Amino acid sequence: MDLSASTALKGRSLLTWLDYTAEEIRALLELSKRLKGEHKRGDLQRRFTGKTLALLFEKRSTRTRCAFETAFGEEGGHPVFLSTGDIQLGAKESIEDTARVLGRMFSGIQFRGFSQSTVETLARYSGVPVYNGLTDDFHPTQALADIMTLEENFSSLRGETLCFVGDGRNNVARSLMVICSKLGVNFTIVSPPALFPRRDILEACEALSAESRARIRVSADAAELRGACGIYTDVWASMGEEDKKAERRALLSPYQVNSGLMEKTGRGDTVFLHCLPAIKGEEVSPELIEGPASRVWDEAENRKYTIKAILLATLGCL
Ligand code: CP
Ligand code: NVA
Repeated sequence: MDLSASTALKGRSLLTWLDYTAEEIRALLELSKRLKGEHKRGDLQRRFTGKTLALLFEKRSTRTRCAFETAFGEEGGHPVFLSTGDIQLGAKESIEDTARVLGRMFSGIQFRGFSQSTVETLARYSGVPVYNGLTDDFHPTQALADIMTLEENFSSLRGETLCFVGDGRNNVARSLMVICSKLGVNFTIVSPPALFPRRDILEACEALSAESRARIRVSADAAELRGACGIYTDVWASMGEEDKKAERRALLSPYQVNSGLMEKTGRGDTVFLHCLPAIKGEEVSPELIEGPASRVWDEAENRKYTIKAILLATLGCL
């Protein structure tokens, strides 16, 4: 699928990659790479002129907010940042009514917050594309940037394995498992059994991988890292889980990603990824995140091109 002259994704929301085909995800990846090339050449266009985007945030954000705002604004779009301290959402007004009103005023809506059902309700009632900028369940825009970053380092991911080490049931691990299952990239979660991913998500991904030929594994054993091209980790307690910090530290301290753990891959070209923000000294050692294997800053930069690709395709601005 070539998105350059296509309206195939126009009007679509992105709530989870479960709703997209492998071909659609691949097309968004190719577009993201093209947009990065444009950006590096200084070729700035005005494809969002006349468009508006509501950016709803129940939780904090640096990368996601800035990627949406800069990607959209620099091409003539008008983003409006709305935190829950600013609007009636969920306080004085239902999500359904908020969706209906925003849908009359905006070309699209980004939502970051707690419940996946909120982003689903916004999509159902607004009549415009809705983008999941992170919920407790999924973080789909992050996963697209992660695959883009891996593909910048390994020409093909077919037969390669990405390993997520840490809280295997969190939003980032889940989104990576879904996108890898769709694209045919092997994916392994290494975490203590108490933090294995939810059974229903795992089964959905196993079903997808039967078609894509991805190998999906979940294990408590770091020996599973052997052969991995990428090791990924995330904070031990996600936003909204602040009360679980001590419990997670006890469970996950043996799973800190550091040089010793990276050596378990048995290869010298394994890269380290992290969605950020990172707590250096907890889930990742300072020497690893600052060292030569780390690709976390490229990964953060790629959030912008991947988000721009999603917006261009779904708002019909190509
Ligand atoms: N990775 C990520 O989503 O970062 P923010 O929380 O800063 O948006
Ligand atoms: N799992 C983390 C990701 C932050 C980008 C969280 O939800 O806080």
